[in-house]
Formats: sequence, structure tokens, C-alpha cells
Amino acid sequence: MSLHNLTRFPRLEFIGAPTPLEYLPRFSDYLGREIYIKRDDTTPMAMGGNKLRKLEFLAADALREGADTLVTAGAIQSNHVRQTAAVAAKLGLKCVALLENPIGTKAENYLTNGNRLMLDLFDAEIEMCDALHSPDSQLEEIAVRLEAQGFRPYVIPVGGSNALGALGYVESALEIAQQCEGAVNVSSVVVASGSAGTHAGLAVGLEQVMPDVDLIGVTVSRSIAQQLPKVEALQHAVAQSLSVSANNPIVLWDDYFAPGYGTPNEEGLEAIKLLARLEGILLDPVYTGKAMAGLIDGVARERFKDDGPIIFIHTGGAPALFAYHPHV
Ligand SMILES: Cc1ncc(COP(=O)(O)O)c(C=O)c1O
Repeated sequence: MSLHNLTRFPRLEFIGAPTPLEYLPRFSDYLGREIYIKRDDTTPMAMGGNKLRKLEFLAADALREGADTLVTAGAIQSNHVRQTAAVAAKLGLKCVALLENPIGTKAENYLTNGNRLMLDLFDAEIEMCDALHSPDSQLEEIAVRLEAQGFRPYVIPVGGSNALGALGYVESALEIAQQCEGAVNVSSVVVASGSAGTHAGLAVGLEQVMPDVDLIGVTVSRSIAQQLPKVEALQHAVAQSLSVSANNPIVLWDDYFAPGYGTPNEEGLEAIKLLARLEGILLDPVYTGKAMAGLIDGVARERFKDDGPIIFIHTGGAPALFAYHPHV
């Protein structure tokens, strides 16, 4: 399965091979539905996760521009910032990370453990801010300052979610199609929808190679009214960059992220425990636990279009389990 134009974009191979698509027998028995999981939590750098797929394209672009510094932003426990810092270390680049504390916690583990611990190991330079109220301009300010100091910064937006980064998830869609061919007649795909690059890239890719599959984005930070324009804008930008059409509607479920971004909820924590107990798979309290809670509730309430197999995209995030201890 190929999407001709995707090969036009330079990329670095941080992943190297398709991530596994696994059947979950015990969880499927429990739910009474065939569930598969795309193991993007096992991407092979720095404890894995979805951002490495985006960074394959973004870091290649940074090197092409002659950058010596990657600049990005996120929560103190951002998985994206952790993966960006790891990629910078691997490439011998400096990494500057602008961090916020979106839940205003003083909990020691949140402030120092999990993803934040690894930022120090990867030797990222940390700047704190009260809030990422307008991250693009806050990042630009840092880039201007770094330039004045003689560095050559490359700004990676929050979550690596621009049209270039999202190509990583067009690629993931192609892998899924290949892995399912002749083996799994997929009905629906479920993914956490945050900064939207993962969702938008999958939307564009799946429309090309598995057009009848429903893609459901479970929001982790916003209502549908706020999230839909973000995903749609990126979907169209990605499609345009590949010269393909994007007509499939974006579907979002926003019932599972309360009380808000970065604050765990009971259903998400239950989903984490269930997958750990039944399959030995670790989800996280901020993204995949909540998305899986959506899948579980969606099956129970018959929100899916039919009874066919569902694929859950495991986007990673387990390092945050340590940051949220003892609440998880
Ligand atoms: C573990 C995990 N899952 C899902 C997401 C959401 O992906 P996106 O920001 O591309 O919507 C993120 C983003 O930070 C993440 O870290």
C-alpha cells in the first residue's frame, strides 16, 4: 500500500518498521467485540509514543534547514516534549522546551517524575511559563531570542501537529491497511484527539486506503465545537500537501475527557486497570485511558456503526503513570 506523494517528503527513520497490530483476545472476550490495538506505544525510542512518527518528518526538515536547536512546548508531563528531547539528543541538537503546569498541581511526582525526569536525562533546557495561552507566538519569541544568541532554532508546534508532522499518521494508516489486508475487516478505528495531528493524519490516510472505515477521535482537552475546526483545518492542510482529497467527515466524541485536560477521571482509570489486568498493556491517564474509556462506553451504548472489529490506536503515554502516582 503506498501513497505516492508521501515519499516526496524527506524523513529520518526513528521507527524503522511497522509497529505491531495485535488482537486483544481477553479484552475482546470481556467486551464481546473483536478489538485490535496498533502498538504505536512501542515505537523504539525513549519509551515510545505517537510523536516519533511526526518527528521523523519534522526533524528531517529541521536538519534540512540547518537547525542546531529544536524548540517546542507542552505540559510538564508532555509525551511530545519527551520524545522531541530524545530525538534532539540522538541528532546532537540542543532542545529548548517551554513547559506549563496545566493542572496547577504541586504534587512532587508530577513536577519531577515520569516524562519530566527524562527531560533532564536528555539534557533539554527547560523554561517554565504560567500558561501556554498562545503557544505559537510564545515559541516564536524563544526562537527570536535564540537566534540573537547565535543559535539556529527550529520550532516544532505543540504536539508536533502541523501538516508536516501529521504525515507520520498518514504513514500509520498505510501500515494499518497493509496489516489488515485479507485478515481483518475493520469497522472502526478509535484514537485520542488532542493537538489533532494524529487524528488528522489518520483521517487523510484512512480515507485513501480504507475509505469505509469509521475513524472516531475521542477528545482529551476540548469540546467538539472547539476541536472540530482544529482537526478539519489540519486534515485539509495534510490532504493538500499530498494532493489528495479529504471528504470524509471528522467524527469526535467529547464525553470522556472531563473534568479537563491532564486531570484523570474514573472511567479512564478503570480502562487503564482493565487493559493492564486483561492484556498486560499500559495505557495512560491523560490520553489513552480516556480514549479507551470512550471505546468501552461506545461498545456498551452501541455508538459504533456496526458490530465489526475495532482498532484502538495506542499512542503511548505510559511514562505519565509514574507522574500521576498515587492517583493512578
Ligand atoms: C500518549 C498520547 N496520546 C495521544 C496524544 C494526542 O495526539 P495529538 O496531539 O496528535 O492529537 C498525545 C499528544 O500529546 C499523547 O502524548
